[in-house]
Amino acid sequence: MVSLAINVDHVATLRQARGITEPDPVLAAGICELAGAQGIVVHLREDRRHIQDRDVRLLRQTVKTKLNLEMGATEEIIDIALEIKPDMITLVPEKRKELTTEGGLNVAGQKKKLQAVIGRMRKAGIPVSLFIDPDSKQINAAHEVGATFVEIHTGRYCDAATEQRRDQEFTLIATAAEEAYELGLRVNAGHGLNYLNTRRVAALGTIEELSIGHAIMARAIFVGLDQAVREMLALLPAR
Ligand code: PXP
Repeated sequence: MVSLAINVDHVATLRQARGITEPDPVLAAGICELAGAQGIVVHLREDRRHIQDRDVRLLRQTVKTKLNLEMGATEEIIDIALEIKPDMITLVPEKRKELTTEGGLNVAGQKKKLQAVIGRMRKAGIPVSLFIDPDSKQINAAHEVGATFVEIHTGRYCDAATEQRRDQEFTLIATAAEEAYELGLRVNAGHGLNYLNTRRVAALGTIEELSIGHAIMARAIFVGLDQAVREMLALLPAR
């Protein structure tokens, strides 16, 4: 079965809006796991707008499935990752003013830097995933720099305004996932996936894991987190 990793950043966003202690993303992660999620993802941003250092430290101690730390490749955050040792990290481009991660990493344009970060993580036993657009150039570069995983950016597929455009974007994802898989990379995907557009991506046999946040948290407000997670899991094919 393709596995589901749930991003709990939005729980922290709500907490930070009040500057108090609830809702707690650590508790949310436990509920996601109890509902059947196979992984938890958090993005520790340089500006700490949602997830805090305390969250990552507690999640490291409490997550029973797999903790994936999403992060920009900056020295401060690299040091935290090396100290906390999540089960894996996902490197993303990070801009201070963006609402969410806007595009894939330009791996081809910063091979040396990424190779060095991946080398440091490897020494610490932390596998690295690179969040990239569905583009051969970036996949080949991810392979060259020694990434273990790529996470293919599904945002343009999810945001497509027409069915034709959506089909084109889906073909790019399917082709990219196949290319990465053939190179020996492990393949994840995510961004913008929801209850209507996930099934098609999940059916690709080359994709190991989906990373989903917003849609599940948005639904959780109305139906509860446990049910929102179970409903997403029900859309994923058994493998
Ligand atoms: N993957 C990456 C690399 C992301 O940055 C995000 C957003 O935090 C997601 C997946 C999840 O996207 P969404 O919240 O749209 O499901």
